[in-house]
Amino acid sequence: MTGRDGDSSPAIDVDEDYEGDSAWGGDDSASETTSVTSSIYRGLTENGRRYQSYRDHDYWGPSDEKQFETMEAGHFMYLVLDYHEQNRLHRAPIGEAPQHILDIGTGKGSWAIDAADTYPSATVRGVDLYPPPIGWVPPNCVLEVDDALQEWTWREPFDLIHMRLLLGAFTPEEWDKVYTQCFENLKPGGWIEQVELDVRVMSDDGSLPEDSLLAGWGPNFLGCGERSGRPLNTQTTMQETMEKAGFVDAHEKLYKCPIGAWPKNPQLKDAGAINLEHWSSGLEGWAMWLLTKHGSPKPWTSEEVRVYVAKVRSELQNPKLHIYHYTRRVWARKPLNTSSPGRN
Ligand SMILES: C[S@@+](CC[C@H](N)C(=O)[O-])C[C@H]1O[C@@H](n2cnc3c(N)ncnc32)[C@H](O)[C@@H]1O
Repeated sequence: MTGRDGDSSPAIDVDEDYEGDSAWGGDDSASETTSVTSSIYRGLTENGRRYQSYRDHDYWGPSDEKQFETMEAGHFMYLVLDYHEQNRLHRAPIGEAPQHILDIGTGKGSWAIDAADTYPSATVRGVDLYPPPIGWVPPNCVLEVDDALQEWTWREPFDLIHMRLLLGAFTPEEWDKVYTQCFENLKPGGWIEQVELDVRVMSDDGSLPEDSLLAGWGPNFLGCGERSGRPLNTQTTMQETMEKAGFVDAHEKLYKCPIGAWPKNPQLKDAGAINLEHWSSGLEGWAMWLLTKHGSPKPWTSEEVRVYVAKVRSELQNPKLHIYHYTRRVWARKPLNTSSPGRN
């Protein structure tokens, strides 16, 4: 059976001996940083999770130790999925000695740090609303606190601007603004690249019951995104919105990301094991803000969210579910014959 959404790749072969992962403990009591004093570091705490306080901005995701663990797991999962690629960080053909690279919404900064290690020639900037919890970065990596929706003040034109998992961060109008700023701040011929996941959980072999919470997860959160005014279907809209901003020569790669170590293929098995950790640790942080603000039919209580998340986590542990979600990577170029005022 082939995949869904026009994906012509074959279904992932199942490892019939897989009996589930016991290594992941689910809830961990993450330690919070207590020595920092600035209000930006302190953030805002709600329902037991810490959120950015840089601006009065409705970004749904927590910026706390637990969510940074989730981001790290996501980073490793994408590296493993591209294990056989020469370059596991991006597909944009930027040559071997780029000078300036930007990672918007860098989160924990893992991609920016790896890009700085990969390209000693480049200064790699990672920008986020919340300061990344990183003590040391390579000398050519700069992690900054800023809002991508403000006027950009970086003077250097970039060879590559990268974004990953920014779904639901912006309204459609804000996305237009972000892509336009990317366009204006790239060198002629420079590249934009974005990686976004599809929040819907699927199976190709019917192992995911239609009435399961996991089958309902995607529609539940797509609804929250719609109601919040910041849709979560960024993976389906990003290429068109990039092209609207002037980008050309768009390419895409669609990944099936297994959740759980159920695939037979060793690389997909590893990716699935890491993705199960990604999901198990991420569920509460992904769910809490969206459901308590925009849940259906009315906003949920935090207790309702915790009970829901515990049930979803328990479904995730079922080794008989051969489940995955899609992730889409799109990369596109600023035309060579376009120059941005004041930059060259
Ligand atoms: C789901 S995380 C993904 C982090 C990282 N890109 C990764 O792949 O691990 C999204 C990040 O985007 C950041 N973000 C949201 N809105 C932003 C904005 N307006 N400007 C800068 N960063 C933003 C959030 O603070 C969060 O750290």
